[in-house]
Amino acid sequence: MAGSTFNKIFMAILTATLVALLAGFISKKLLHPHIPEERAYKVEVPETQAADAGAGAAAAPAAPEPVAPLLAAADATKGQGVAKACAACHSFEKGGANKVGPNLWNIVNAPHAHAEGFGYSDAMKALHEKPWDYEALNVFLANPKAAIPGTKMNYAGIKKADDRANLIAYLRSLSDSPAPLP
Ligand code: HEC
Repeated sequence: MAGSTFNKIFMAILTATLVALLAGFISKKLLHPHIPEERAYKVEVPETQAADAGAGAAAAPAAPEPVAPLLAAADATKGQGVAKACAACHSFEKGGANKVGPNLWNIVNAPHAHAEGFGYSDAMKALHEKPWDYEALNVFLANPKAAIPGTKMNYAGIKKADDRANLIAYLRSLSDSPAPLP
């Protein structure tokens, strides 16, 4: 092999190696940027909590008052009154149409995202394996967006436990065979 040819090959290999090293160095810089100190997520505090903390309640409760102990004495007729707030978006009768929200006949113990043909949010669909038991309804209806982040239900929630109990008693009555009380 003539000397100059060898030199050319040698230089080519050397150049290729340098380019490869340089590329590696640059991509490392690009792919491993300095990781920011600040956390990527935020904990949201609902604005209503402060106003909600009534006399004596120093800190806002993390979870709404459980509804099970209230259900025995709850009044479904009063709950029907509370449900007027839902009627803009929901129908309640058997076979009723889905509106802005799904029909709510037989909702107690039905799976999340129970209504066929309704365009649920991904957040709601992801919970399809879970039944709407009394406590799930209680937590959701107290503050829908906090209970299921990403829900499409644009409703602030029902703050008073008694109202929720009456409403859930009404929802329970919307069935051919209402679920047993807890
Ligand atoms: C502004 C319209 C609107 C109002 C008012 C509203 N909802 Fe909804 N609701 C929706 C929408 C939309 C969904 C579907 C949520 C999703 O896919 O994330 C929904 C979902 C639900 C679900 C879950 C149904 C399922 O199949 O999983 C329940 C239960 C429910 N609403 C109850 C109520 C009750 C009770 C009220 C009244 C206190 C109420 N909603 C008020 C729009 C509304």
